Amino acid sequence: MKNLIIVLAAFLTLFMISCGGETTDRERETTQREKPAEKERKADPRGIGPFTNVELTDPLDPNMVRRGKAISDVKCASCHKYETEDRLVGPGYLNITNRRSPEWIMNMITNVDVMLDEDPEAQKLLEECLVRMPNQNISEDEARDILEFLRNNDEENAGKRDGAAT
Ligand code: HEC
Repeated sequence: MKNLIIVLAAFLTLFMISCGGETTDRERETTQREKPAEKERKADPRGIGPFTNVELTDPLDPNMVRRGKAISDVKCASCHKYETEDRLVGPGYLNITNRRSPEWIMNMITNVDVMLDEDPEAQKLLEECLVRMPNQNISEDEARDILEFLRNNDEENAGKRDGAAT
């Protein structure tokens, strides 16, 4: 009788192990099937959010630059350096207007949660930085002021601006 129980227990264990194995196989299949679809997703250079066409003015508007810098000094500078690309908490601002379209930048500033969840470029940054940029409740006008400040920052510190504007 004792032996029978031991044999049964052994069978049961084997059975459970093989079940576990099947589940992982199935899981592996599912993830493998999902991967190609993820890769196919192409980044929209304008990002995701309310901004689909931002008009850039030339020359820069000094009042907007001043207002944008004031907001950034208070709400952004603790995580972003201005004069370099080096990371503080988030990437440095330098060359941002040469790397990203104005629409992408303003969508990132005003619609950060959706951008981090759905925009492939924003997701790449999140993987590098491992901190989610917080939603700072920036209005659309404030975001435009900040963009003007970022353009001015690139003009002064990188020697060129708007390199990624479409
Ligand atoms: C608590 C830290 C923090 C604050 C405050 C913050 N950010 Fe960020 N920011 C990040 C991080 C981290 C990333 C990279 C994406 C991620 O991991 O969420 C980022 C990414 C960005 C990017 C994209 C950078 C690139 O190289 O493409 C922009 C633009 C940006 N932030 C602008 C702002 C602005 C403007 C403010 C202020 C209104 C601000 N951030 C406030 C942490 C912060």
